[in-house]
Amino acid sequence: MNHDHPHIPKNDGESCESPTNSPLSPWLVGAFILALFWGGFYLAFNSGGFRQDVYESNAVNWAGGGAVAAAPPDPKVIGKRLYSQNCIVCHQANGLGVPGQFPPLAGSEWVNSDSIHGDNHLVLIMLHGHQGPMKVAGQSYNNAMPQWKQLSDAEIAAILTYIRSDWGNNAPAIDASFVTLLRKEHEAQSDPYTQPELMAMPKVMDAGKSPASPSSAPSPSVPAK
Ligand code: HEC
Repeated sequence: MNHDHPHIPKNDGESCESPTNSPLSPWLVGAFILALFWGGFYLAFNSGGFRQDVYESNAVNWAGGGAVAAAPPDPKVIGKRLYSQNCIVCHQANGLGVPGQFPPLAGSEWVNSDSIHGDNHLVLIMLHGHQGPMKVAGQSYNNAMPQWKQLSDAEIAAILTYIRSDWGNNAPAIDASFVTLLRKEHEAQSDPYTQPELMAMPKVMDAGKSPASPSSAPSPSVPAK
């Protein structure tokens, strides 16, 4: 220690009046604290709650519980992300498809289970794909939709729940257990379905979802053969 030299700043924690050791500007301190707070809030709002499954498409098995203990992520959020990964190239971000090639999901009677179309038909198109002539929203298509049975039941349910809620669509969620049921029942099917095949199956509404309006689900638990 060199206590008798006034110009050498001390680093032993005692106060020192040397100009090289002036206290930090309060503004600087304030700005630093503000930046810390901003950073904290930024992370809190943009990190998806620090949850891995927000980013990992393979980690959406929340329906089975297990590793993910907190409140399950919104299927629509997961579904939208899966839609971007798997469907957007053909059906487009606006759900309008490409005229003459890829039919629209926005306002589609297949998506919303309107008139003769049931939730079972929609799920089966996802599981097995669709080929040949098809009428969607008054337009005719004759193309091929790939099958998606490589996705899990929860993922398929999430995608369908999402596409039934965006672009003005407003149909009830599809439950993963309904996908499980149909996957099992149609496991012998190897080719994509065709419109005549699907329309030969009676319309069934989502059996797994507790009905918000029971009257709209006439045969709740009897799947089509
Ligand atoms: C390679 C292009 C392609 C991709 C990718 C694709 N589809 Fe399709 N989709 C089609 C075509 C083509 C049809 C019409 C099939 C036909 O003409 O027989 C169709 C039909 C459909 C239908 C029934 C008709 C309608 O428009 O409502 C639904 C529902 C659907 N697709 C949903 C999806 C979803 C969800 C995904 C993502 C998981 C997806 N598709 C990915 C090409 C695609």
